[in-house]
Amino acid sequence: VPPPQLVKAARDVASYLREKARENALFQVVSHLDADGIAAASIISTSLTRLNARFHVRIIQQLSRKSLERIPRRERVFVFTDMGSGQLKLLEESLQEDTVVIDHHPPEEGGGRLIHFNPHLFGLDGGVDVSGAGAAYLVAREIDVKNRDLSPLAIVGALGDRQDKGKQRSLTGLNAEIAREGVEHGILQEVKDLIVFGRETRPIPVALEYTTDPFIPGLSGNHGACLKFLVERVQIPLKAGDRWRTIAELSREEKARLVSELVKYMLGPGNMSADEAQSIIGTVYVLSREREGTPMRDAREYASLLNACGRTGRTGLGLAICMGERKRSLSEAAEAVDEYRVKLADYINWVEGEGMKKRKNLYWFSGVGRIDVRMVGTVASILASSKKYQSKVIVGLAYSNEEDCIKASIRLGKGGENVDLGELVRRVMERMKLETAAGGHELAAGAYIPVGKEEEFLMLLDEELGMGGCGGR
Ligand code: C5P
Ligand code: ZN
Repeated sequence: VPPPQLVKAARDVASYLREKARENALFQVVSHLDADGIAAASIISTSLTRLNARFHVRIIQQLSRKSLERIPRRERVFVFTDMGSGQLKLLEESLQEDTVVIDHHPPEEGGGRLIHFNPHLFGLDGGVDVSGAGAAYLVAREIDVKNRDLSPLAIVGALGDRQDKGKQRSLTGLNAEIAREGVEHGILQEVKDLIVFGRETRPIPVALEYTTDPFIPGLSGNHGACLKFLVERVQIPLKAGDRWRTIAELSREEKARLVSELVKYMLGPGNMSADEAQSIIGTVYVLSREREGTPMRDAREYASLLNACGRTGRTGLGLAICMGERKRSLSEAAEAVDEYRVKLADYINWVEGEGMKKRKNLYWFSGVGRIDVRMVGTVASILASSKKYQSKVIVGLAYSNEEDCIKASIRLGKGGENVDLGELVRRVMERMKLETAAGGHELAAGAYIPVGKEEEFLMLLDEELGMGGCGGR
């Protein structure tokens, strides 16, 4: 059960929004570019629609002075979702009107004038207990009980933020409570099942090929090998007539065969640990009111769809889908997912082929003019997870039009120790006397640096790493 003070706080935000809607205020929703941010924005937008309120939505990659300046602000009630808690002072300074922040990132001090809703303020951990969409949902259901039908979007957001850290990749904490509400409402099902990419929409060999979490050596990314494995080892019908079957439509027995052969493969030729092999089975969250065979039926697939929409510049499409649009948008969503995959593969190939450079203590690549800034973080993350860069620091650069700055994404490969990337970046920003947005935690950090300062930034990062034990962990 959520802490009573948290529910009370959500209720206060809800009353405020309802009252402003009654006054016929114009709302400006501002949210984060990723799946959680889009889901959060849509939860608030649907709630506002149901209040007959007028509103605009803006999805941005980074909240900063510059991005705020681009948003018309006269006579608007600002509602920030999945962002804002880290920039309370900036918001208080820049916005006159009362401003609402509904977020799950660790809050900074200050911002007393703002209406700030964040589970951290009630002793919860926004990293795993609840997402930005979850926080938005807690407010939405206090606006109107009808909005309880939005709980599946909170689950989509949580999975988008990879909060499924419980046993068998389940959600825990407040997320689990919200899932239970969805189940009780008859709009969500939790089942223990195979977790593969595109379980509702992709031909089985493609689903296997596209599965990279866990990464199955020899199968992931290798279509021919997947097909061969399915035909020779698993021996289940892959087609129904002319049509390829999906993982979701396999019978219990067929799935059991597939799982047992997969696990055998992973432990044998795949050379994976028992734990890694186990992680192919987990908790699947099914949006049971969605049509079978559509990406919105599986909450993980839904989240990757929203992520692809955001990172290929189709935020309006992502929002429309979350708000119930189910016509033309489906083929456009499929396009977004394909475009995202193709671009990502192209970027990775380019970095691995010629883009990656080495310094004493780090690897880096400049994607300026080559890599979309919305994807440079994902590229750096994928590379950091490969064996080749084990315990190495990777820095990816790209040009951000939104900020007119170079965006740096910094990641630590598996097995890295004695480095806290968040601390590292803060130190370098301080040495460069930069006040542009930056921050992070042990394994991932990001920073915006003025064009032309890349070399100095890399040099100082390298130097700080050389001094060893950055952050003194
Ligand atoms: O943007 P990117 O994905 O590279 O950021 C990695 C992490 O760094 C984020 O998850 C966030 O924790 C942190 N970050 C931040 N402030 C920024 C950029 C990134 O705190 N301006
Ligand atoms: Zn989030």
